[in-house]
Amino acid sequence: MAADNATYALELRDLRKSFGKTEIIRGANLAVASGERVAIIGPNGAGKSTLFNLISGRFAPTSGDVILNGQRINGMAPYEINRRGLSRSFQITNIFPKLSVFENLRCSVLWSMGYKYTFLRFLSNLDDANERAKELMEMIKLDKKRDTLAMNLTYAEQRALEIGITIAGGANVILLDEPTAGMSKSETTRFIHLIKEVTVGRTLLTVEHDMGVVFGLADKIAVVVYGEVIAFDTPAKVRANQRVQEAYLGSAVADAQGAGH
Ligand SMILES: Nc1ncnc2c1ncn2[C@@H]1O[C@H](COP(=O)(O)OP(=O)(O)OP(=O)(O)O)[C@@H](O)[C@H]1O
Ligand SMILES: [Mg+2]
Repeated sequence: MAADNATYALELRDLRKSFGKTEIIRGANLAVASGERVAIIGPNGAGKSTLFNLISGRFAPTSGDVILNGQRINGMAPYEINRRGLSRSFQITNIFPKLSVFENLRCSVLWSMGYKYTFLRFLSNLDDANERAKELMEMIKLDKKRDTLAMNLTYAEQRALEIGITIAGGANVILLDEPTAGMSKSETTRFIHLIKEVTVGRTLLTVEHDMGVVFGLADKIAVVVYGEVIAFDTPAKVRANQRVQEAYLGSAVADAQGAGH
């Protein structure tokens, strides 16, 4: 196998995944540099969520490698991958509905500190966890909702809390699957701003259908079509890529240009 290459935060090497006889991921390759913000786009059913499931350890690849911060992680359990610095948002089901905003964040912080191993360590970490939870609450702009139960937040606030939970452990690679789905235009705009803020200095991969969002957020775009990454480049280059236009983008690009990013 090739030597580990720590210059990339995340690498996919000839990744494949079949469900039964159907190959869904068909030799995907990608190399994301540390600190890059990558939007993953592609038609419905192209395999974007499946890629995330392979990266986060929910599914094991049929073949190929997933390399996180220079280490092969395929075959590892999701929690092991999480401990190695990758965090993935899981829609809003990740939130404890009957815990407050603060408690939700503190739980994630404590979990990431590995509090469950010793009670003494738990006690010594509690102050740190409270401090970190407070910091996160401010970052996601929910400090005024500190004691509100998660189930009583608006939808957009729940998604913000979910982002807070996702980054609570200090992961350096963050995966977000359609983070703005179901939001209004103005909520989306605010939310993208928030995502940009909280992911400064981290590597972000986000699946996104809204081309305005994609061109506004991403340093690079990965185009997934039929289980392969057919292009991975800057927004300007992807926009100009003939193959991408034929396979997928077409009018979506024109829409985004019309929207002025
Ligand atoms: N666990 C599974 N078992 C069988 N087939 C699956 C499984 N998960 C996904 N698939 C199939 O894999 C293909 C890709 O699905 P996936 O959810 O990754 O697409 P996607 O690019 O995220 O699409 P969308 O934009 O609609 O979210 C689909 O045909 C889907 O039916
Ligand atoms: Mg999907």
